[in-house]
Amino acid sequence: MTGHHPTPTADASAHDDAAADAADHGVLRARALAALLRARERTSLLTGCVDEAELTAQHSPLMSPLVWDLAHIGNQEEQWLLRAVGGHAAMRPEIDPLYDAFEHPRSARPSLPLLPPVEARRYAAEVRGRALDLLEGTAFTGGPLTDAGFAFGMIAQHEQQHDETMLITHQLRKGPAALTAPDPAPVVGDPGPAEVLVPAGEFTMGTSTEPWALDNERPAHRSWTEAFHLDTAPVTNGAYLRFLESGGYEDARWWTPEGWAYVQAQRITAPLFWRHEGGRWLRRRFGVTEEVPPQEPVLHVSWYEADAYARWAGRRLPTETEWEKAARHDPVTGRSTRYPWGDEDPTEEHANLGQRHLRPAPAGSYPKGQSALGVRQLIGDVWEWTASDFAPYPGFAAFPYREYSQVFFGPEYKVLRGGSFAVDAVACRGTFRNWDYPIRRQIFSGFRTARDAHPDEAVA
Ligand code: AVJ
Ligand code: FE
Repeated sequence: MTGHHPTPTADASAHDDAAADAADHGVLRARALAALLRARERTSLLTGCVDEAELTAQHSPLMSPLVWDLAHIGNQEEQWLLRAVGGHAAMRPEIDPLYDAFEHPRSARPSLPLLPPVEARRYAAEVRGRALDLLEGTAFTGGPLTDAGFAFGMIAQHEQQHDETMLITHQLRKGPAALTAPDPAPVVGDPGPAEVLVPAGEFTMGTSTEPWALDNERPAHRSWTEAFHLDTAPVTNGAYLRFLESGGYEDARWWTPEGWAYVQAQRITAPLFWRHEGGRWLRRRFGVTEEVPPQEPVLHVSWYEADAYARWAGRRLPTETEWEKAARHDPVTGRSTRYPWGDEDPTEEHANLGQRHLRPAPAGSYPKGQSALGVRQLIGDVWEWTASDFAPYPGFAAFPYREYSQVFFGPEYKVLRGGSFAVDAVACRGTFRNWDYPIRRQIFSGFRTARDAHPDEAVA
């Protein structure tokens, strides 16, 4: 087990069994190798499908040039695997500040003396070659970085997170499509009820046993919610259009003061990438313009828009605690599972993950991925805004660096849960936490809504 975090208060014992199996070192070593190779395949696709000029260009002031992400991926891997785990000397110490995310804002990165594409690729490949040798020769014991292969899992997750960031850059990029992927299948069978009742009570939130869980997911602790109702699927474009077309963006009643000021100042009247033309709503998606599909979860909305929609609908965003309870709590066994469907790793039948598709699947998809309480599409498809600020759990300890989570705790960031179609399975689970500013819309963000249960419904 990773030894760097406080011991759990009450992680359910069956969960410990599942984690003990997963902690088998041979399995974890194979899993780390597969995760690193899968991440690099994706990085190569995202940086290989455009020319050198596009790799160094600034496609949006919100994003780094793609070539920055590429060398930053290599630099983080060098720092945490080669130097911290392997004890190697720095390969090119002079480039560290260029790829330190806290040194230069994204908008300033195009004017830095970055490694050109050929050199960035060579650097990342050289680091990777040494990292794979290190993976073979490193015991998965002996300290918090190497226990259960944590640093290898962390670095695979880091690369995949930047792959999602690069996919956002691709979405912002103008010009013809550089990426294609098959569409998800239409919904088959009964999409189920519109909402489910989640009973009042305690459950185990966070984890102390998941080997590669990041610091902000730890430790496991008991949490409590009142009874509430939660949408079984994310809010769709069709539903969002009713808000929009009934004048939702022009009515201050639905917005927080900050949200209202933001949409007024930025003249926001629809989700990002949408436009109204010839009486139809169109959207641009990875270089292709298409009609907005009504059954698909809404994408590219800010927290302010999600919050306003929920108020218009007479509902509210779920808290982060409510979201995790709906995703992990099994009322029959009383334990919290790793994923909504149980403890098994995701397959293509459970969730839309890993950039297999370049869009979310229609609402009501993935019946095999539903939670014990009957909630669908919690994992994959769209990141889901929650009502909650990003805050540490009781007993939080920053590891291995404060700049992963700790420096972001506070009221200026809102938590998103569940991952999107652009998230790889290694960087997604029932406990995984993401965060961003409430104004952000270029991310693959959507939401679902909740409402309080009436006291007479709350009796279990
Ligand atoms: C967890 C997605 C907010 O991209 O800023 C990447 C992930 N941290 N490199 C981000 C991350 C360091 C992080 N998010
Ligand atoms: Fe990073």
